[in-house]
Amino acid sequence: MIDSVAHGRSGTAMMAFSTLLTDEDIALVVDFVRGGFMRGAAVGTYYHTPENGWDNHERYQAAFPFALGEIPIDTPGEQLTPEQRAGLRLFLSACITCHDRARVSDQGPLWDARAVSFPRGGFSFRRPADAVSGATSYARHEVAPTIGDLSDQEKRGEGLFQANCAFCHAADGTGGGWIGRFLEPHPRDLTDPAVMGGMTRDRLIAVIRDGLPGTTMSAWRSVLGAGDIDAIASYVNRAFHPLSTEPSGEAGGQLSR
Ligand code: HEC
Ligand code: HEC
Repeated sequence: MIDSVAHGRSGTAMMAFSTLLTDEDIALVVDFVRGGFMRGAAVGTYYHTPENGWDNHERYQAAFPFALGEIPIDTPGEQLTPEQRAGLRLFLSACITCHDRARVSDQGPLWDARAVSFPRGGFSFRRPADAVSGATSYARHEVAPTIGDLSDQEKRGEGLFQANCAFCHAADGTGGGWIGRFLEPHPRDLTDPAVMGGMTRDRLIAVIRDGLPGTTMSAWRSVLGAGDIDAIASYVNRAFHPLSTEPSGEAGGQLSR
């Protein structure tokens, strides 16, 4: 496992972490996975521990009833004791990012089940963002460009891009979504002339087919057929940045890191 984390597994999306994590970090994370998920799988993984950087979890007691769903978080303030009000404030500012929206009594539009952190049941970026995720800088990147007159080929590419690539590159191709900002290196911004200026069709197809070793940009050749990849290239050309017509290999752009 240490070897896989350090050097990645070629031909898969599992990248090498040896340039990002020290040997000690890698050993710790492997111990954590083995202890928490493999040996302790039945009891789950306890998160709020001092080892995890979460000292004296008990000091947040006042917010526990909201984290555990015992008190709905839309309970009117006047029905709460001063201590509970303080707990609710703490919950909304420090805990809700992970504990999602806990429990509410009135499932009005404000608490509609739309995720901030990752897609949950029925979540769609195509619906307007909710009050919380709308306030993040990520939501606006999860909207695909509206193009009225896509050809059949481009439409096919749009479907494939949005289903396979948007997870990392965002629906608008910028890589500015939540996942994209966390990946290191970031997925390339497919609308940026600095990245796409020298990108020929052949080269784009080769990158999609063979991936970029050492990054999360994996090889798609066993997942997508040649026709699929061609359709994606047509869509990228139309929606994000026109592909260069220079002969392959001469223009700028960077194929490897
Ligand atoms: C970074 C993510 C994260 C944040 C932030 C977070 N939690 Fe948690 N919390 C978890 C996870 C994961 C679990 C489930 C695993 C476990 O039981 O530790 C959990 C479980 C709990 C539990 C049930 C288990 C226990 O420890 O009693 C309580 C209560 C809780 N959190 C309270 C809080 C409070 C209060 C805050 C804010 C001050 C908070 N959490 C912030 C991730 C988080
Ligand atoms: C798991 C995340 C992930 C997915 C899914 C993904 N990519 Fe990438 N992609 C990346 C990352 C990360 C980079 C940047 C690597 C770097 O900077 O070296 C990248 C780079 C690229 C580049 C730039 C290559 C270059 O030479 O500059 C293109 C084009 C691209 N991806 C297209 C796609 C397409 C099309 C798909 C869907 C078939 C896709 N990506 C799916 C993560 C992803």
